[in-house]
Amino acid sequence: MKPRDIQLLQEAALAEARQAATIEALEAVRVRYLGRRGLLPEVMQGLKDLPPTERPEAGRYANDLKEALTALIQERKQVLANRTVAGQTGFDVSRPGAWRGYGRRHPISRIIEEVTDIFFRMGFTVADGPDIETEYHNFDALNTPADHPSRDIQDTFWLEDGSLLRTQTSPVQIRVMESRRPPIRIIAPGRCYRRDTVDATHSANFHQIEGLYVDRAVSLAQLKGDLTYFARHLMGPDVRVRFRPHYFPFTEPSLEYDFSCHVCGGKGCRVCKQSGWIEISGAGMVNPKVLRQVGYDPETVTGYAFGMGVERIAMIKFGIEDIRLLYDNDIRFLEQFGA
Ligand code: DAH
Repeated sequence: MKPRDIQLLQEAALAEARQAATIEALEAVRVRYLGRRGLLPEVMQGLKDLPPTERPEAGRYANDLKEALTALIQERKQVLANRTVAGQTGFDVSRPGAWRGYGRRHPISRIIEEVTDIFFRMGFTVADGPDIETEYHNFDALNTPADHPSRDIQDTFWLEDGSLLRTQTSPVQIRVMESRRPPIRIIAPGRCYRRDTVDATHSANFHQIEGLYVDRAVSLAQLKGDLTYFARHLMGPDVRVRFRPHYFPFTEPSLEYDFSCHVCGGKGCRVCKQSGWIEISGAGMVNPKVLRQVGYDPETVTGYAFGMGVERIAMIKFGIEDIRLLYDNDIRFLEQFGA
């Protein structure tokens, strides 16, 4: 066969291979051209009958044919095999992959990490306590009077055996002090539960971060200094903080701790209800009665404590207007909060 004819033969072979719609049809093309008694061996055989001048060129074309056809058949076989799998299983392995995207940390987890990180720098470590608490740890040991309204069934989820879902992270203070001697410097993030009617700012299940520092001569000045440092690192250097007198049974004196409103800078707006301040946390000096309760001597050691709402901080920091968004698990919402 003349070199030019071999080229034409190659074109025909490739066209047939391209058109083969099944693996069987493709195999037939292979046998017809490349099989032992196929057209290509015949061409090879015929090379010796060509004039010597044409032989090398014809030989090259014959090799080309073999290589190109072998490669094409292989490629098409793969495609057809995939199609068969797709037909049988509904799974097309030749389809481009679908991008699933990475998960992100929940805004609540982010706040917990940010807050713990800041307190780590001040030498605090993380402590933990159970969500199902005893009445003793959640109320009694924290000097909460027996008739205090927070114990009421309208406020607390009581379990049948007399235990309860903790209404605050403060019982972790008791558990830590029961099991260690001062100096103690812990923060305790975790879930809390109250029988609250759910609305834009209330949830029956929410999170707090408790802090406790007990040592010789811990003072209110230290509490104020540490919470101010914390505020600047969480909200930025321009934030101002304010401490107001308050009452909690487990601290004496007790305070409430506010940030200047980050939206209006303190001038007064809808977010801060025109006051210029946003309430962040309860705090105070650990009540000597609580220290005595866990076997510490209030004449030797003193302490400060605080407890802040995580959702509240998340809402302020990220500008979230409805607490329920944090629990809906709507990807479109959660995706907006970076990594
Ligand atoms: N446990 C209090 C609450 O849920 C918050 C709190 C106030 C915690 C003062 C404290 C504290 O440790 O000292 O309202």
